[in-house]
Amino acid sequence: MMLFSRNSNPLNPEVEEKIKKYRRLGCVVPTRKMIKTEEQIEGIRASSLINTSVLDHVAQHIRVGMTTEDINTLVHEYTLSRGAIPAPLNYEGFPKSVCTSVNEEVCHGIPSKDVVLREGDIVNVDVSTIYNGYFSDASRMFLIGDVSPERRRLVDVTRECLEVGIEAARPWGFLGDIGEAIQHYAEKNGYSVVREFCGHGVGLQFHEKPEVEHVGRRGTGMLLVPGMIFTIEPMINMGKPDIFIDEENGWTVITEDEQPSAQWENTVLITETGVERLTW
Ligand code: MF3
Ligand code: CO
Repeated sequence: MMLFSRNSNPLNPEVEEKIKKYRRLGCVVPTRKMIKTEEQIEGIRASSLINTSVLDHVAQHIRVGMTTEDINTLVHEYTLSRGAIPAPLNYEGFPKSVCTSVNEEVCHGIPSKDVVLREGDIVNVDVSTIYNGYFSDASRMFLIGDVSPERRRLVDVTRECLEVGIEAARPWGFLGDIGEAIQHYAEKNGYSVVREFCGHGVGLQFHEKPEVEHVGRRGTGMLLVPGMIFTIEPMINMGKPDIFIDEENGWTVITEDEQPSAQWENTVLITETGVERLTW
């Protein structure tokens, strides 16, 4: 007979009481599974360190004339050399080890020998790692050669959107605080926020609850509790927010108006006093 389930790691009683109090007030509160144990946090931290080193490896090698397939090779081989597994490979049928999204591609671009990085391109490289069973997820934008001021501004403001989102996250705050901060900052700068794709819980699986929207209203959405780990990954468009999915490959997300889009992503941990970035 199983007396104790492995998932029912007891919460700190004070935290448990506080969650109950918010639930009685009518707030949406996280389930036990969304609150990681110390052991799980350490595992996700180790995975995140490798994920960061993979992105650093890409940063050192990415250059004009390279194909996105070359980036895939860099990510795949380096990840394996660290004793880890690239999470995208075969995920729901995704055929490669990393997502590479160039210019008007919003996300989920599939690396290809036919896509050559050209002077002036902006490219998102989205790396996700499984290490010792734990998942981490982060992406950065890279500027290829000389990039126009207009595109550089999009990349910079999108990075700032991620920063204001992270700064808005705190224990006993709400997911809507993050969404509002990002939406406000993006729209103030004349850009639009993609609605169809969100951040997500991460750690024991690639994509867990909750969904982390990049638009919203302060004080709404799920309560943030110490031990929650999720991504924040705003996709910001220079033009309209509308997108479509490439029918040929079923994956690549592209802006409807074919104007450029940018994205930055980090995995973060809600702590007792604030927020800790697990990836960079
Ligand atoms: N890395 C993406 C994210 O940020 C997910 C990509 S799913 C894949 O959530 F299959 F395309 F890799
Ligand atoms: Co993600």
